[in-house]
Amino acid sequence: MAVIKEGTIFYMDMMGKMKRTHHCNELSAKDAGKEVTLMGWVQRRRDHGGVIFIDLRDREGLCQVVFNPDKNIDIHKHAHTIRNEFVIGISGVVEKRPEGMINTNLKTGEIEISVNELKIFNKAATPPFLIEDSIDVSDNIRLENRHIDLRRPALMKNIITRHKIGKAVRNYLNNLGFIDIETPMLTKSTPEGARDYLVPSRVNQGTFYALPQSPQIFKQLLMVAGFDRYYQIVKCFRDEDLRADRQPEFTQIDIEMSFIDENQIMAVAEGMIQSLFKEVLEKEVTLPFACISYKEAMDRYGLDKPDTRFKLELKDVTDIVKESGFKVFASVAKKGGMVKALNAKQSSSLSRKEIDGLTDFVSIYRAKGLAWIKVKEDSWQSPIAKFFTDDEKDALAEKIEMEPGDLILFVADQPKIVNEALGHLRNHMGKKLGLIDETIFNFLWVTDFPLFDYDETEKRYQALHHPFTSPVETDFDKLKTEPASILSRAYDLVLNGSEIGGGSIRIHSADIQQQVFTALGLKEDDYKEKFGFLLDALKSGAPPHGGIAFGLDRLAMILCNQESLRDVIAFPKTQKASCLMTKAPSKASFKQLEELNLKSTL
Ligand code: AMO
Ligand code: AMP
Repeated sequence: MAVIKEGTIFYMDMMGKMKRTHHCNELSAKDAGKEVTLMGWVQRRRDHGGVIFIDLRDREGLCQVVFNPDKNIDIHKHAHTIRNEFVIGISGVVEKRPEGMINTNLKTGEIEISVNELKIFNKAATPPFLIEDSIDVSDNIRLENRHIDLRRPALMKNIITRHKIGKAVRNYLNNLGFIDIETPMLTKSTPEGARDYLVPSRVNQGTFYALPQSPQIFKQLLMVAGFDRYYQIVKCFRDEDLRADRQPEFTQIDIEMSFIDENQIMAVAEGMIQSLFKEVLEKEVTLPFACISYKEAMDRYGLDKPDTRFKLELKDVTDIVKESGFKVFASVAKKGGMVKALNAKQSSSLSRKEIDGLTDFVSIYRAKGLAWIKVKEDSWQSPIAKFFTDDEKDALAEKIEMEPGDLILFVADQPKIVNEALGHLRNHMGKKLGLIDETIFNFLWVTDFPLFDYDETEKRYQALHHPFTSPVETDFDKLKTEPASILSRAYDLVLNGSEIGGGSIRIHSADIQQQVFTALGLKEDDYKEKFGFLLDALKSGAPPHGGIAFGLDRLAMILCNQESLRDVIAFPKTQKASCLMTKAPSKASFKQLEELNLKSTL
């Protein structure tokens, strides 16, 4: 029975009585003979001298549908007009494919649908790229046409995996008695180390809301209110330099608990990770996770988020080279700097050009050079070998555990620069030398962070996490005297070299909180203006509390085995924080600015 009315090809916007019976991936040989109705997009149309084949696609997969002119010439005629990405519905009979026509690469490859009813719901312009995973399209074109990019199976699968992560997290936390509470988006600045996104107020002219960098203060207020266990899967906004693992708006799994210590929070977090890996990837994760102090992480790996899937540890050789004839090393050591070495095992075959490339790499992290030694059977090949005495050479060889065939790379500078440069170089060499087993998941807690970090440019202390992090109790009395040496009760969770979560036990005494603000260089008027409401809350009966937040996008990126957050966010932003599809941010109209009493000088 032909359902296409005389003179009309398209049933735009009309489904009629047609009702979908299956998704495109659901049918198999055991359904042969069934009458079914499928709906979706045309992946591909092939005209085989009379018979027309269409691969029909929906969110779940593909199914081949067949238009045979001998069965229905009318429908067949209309099938000729169908092009890629047209949206159609078909009804027909499931038939086993003839021997030799079975497609073993396709879940539905044993069958096809012999069509006896067709509806064309909508035509489609020729898409800017094929809806296939292997295509090579520029990121910009993908982002400009995100609704089409999202049709690609791999990207769609990532977004669905992300949904599964959210579902597993909610199940786990709901079962533990956590309460999901929303916190405001139009709010006051919550300092997490980035710039705020500001929203001007029309009714209170000249004033601005800040979009939350995190719900940090609100979740603490919820503890003061007595909710005890809170969670939220929540958008956060940070105006900072963007990278593959940073988006200006991203999602946190935000958690806070009362009457607990760090071990209890870490146990809840570990259980959550374990259950989501099981539900989403069907992978068993072994608990408890390994734990390392911040100091040890910096000493051995140069970064506070070390990738422990491979060895290549850094060695501090400052003491050995401080009196050496190599001026660069000696003078850095005398000025209180440090010299560290990375033994890139068995890579002495790297060319001069490749080593120059590594020098450029470390310069991104402000290293002024990269000294090197190629270890031969009985000698060193190196521009700096001549500056060392035999004793110094022996000591270096022992400390760096040199073996013939090794390439040793040195950076000398202030500790921050040395660690950052060599830490990133270590990750780079791990990838370059193929030392990383991509199939494993290495979780690592990093603990015992310093409370403060000294900012050389601003000449003042900054909170290494955020200003509400509690110092360890035994260091309370150092707040006024030696802030640099105070340890905090913060912890980060690192997975394969990526920081996926971080949290702390909070300050629940108004007095300690004020001392921390003072150590951060804030005057009383300043902190009362910014955080007076929090101080009042701490004075109103605040329980001991703490929590953690996970980067949901980062977790999804790792679980989906992707290199960029863009591949797990439905509508991501570019490195310049813009949306190429909607063209946001865009100019405001004169009327809007006038209402806000704002003037643009651009
Ligand atoms: P923190 O600032 O460490 O802690 O953030 C928690 C986690 O959020 C993720 N993350 C990001 N992901 C994508 N893009 C970004 N720009 C971005 N910035 C952070 C990271 C990070 O580990 N309020 C505290 C948590 C707490 O103390 O409970 C906080 O926001 O995976
Ligand atoms: P130069 O004496 O400047 O020619 O440097 C000799 C070698 O030392 C070169 O391989 C430089 O890359 C390296 N070098 C220079 N400055 C540093 C530094 N701060 N740390 C490590 N190596 C350096």
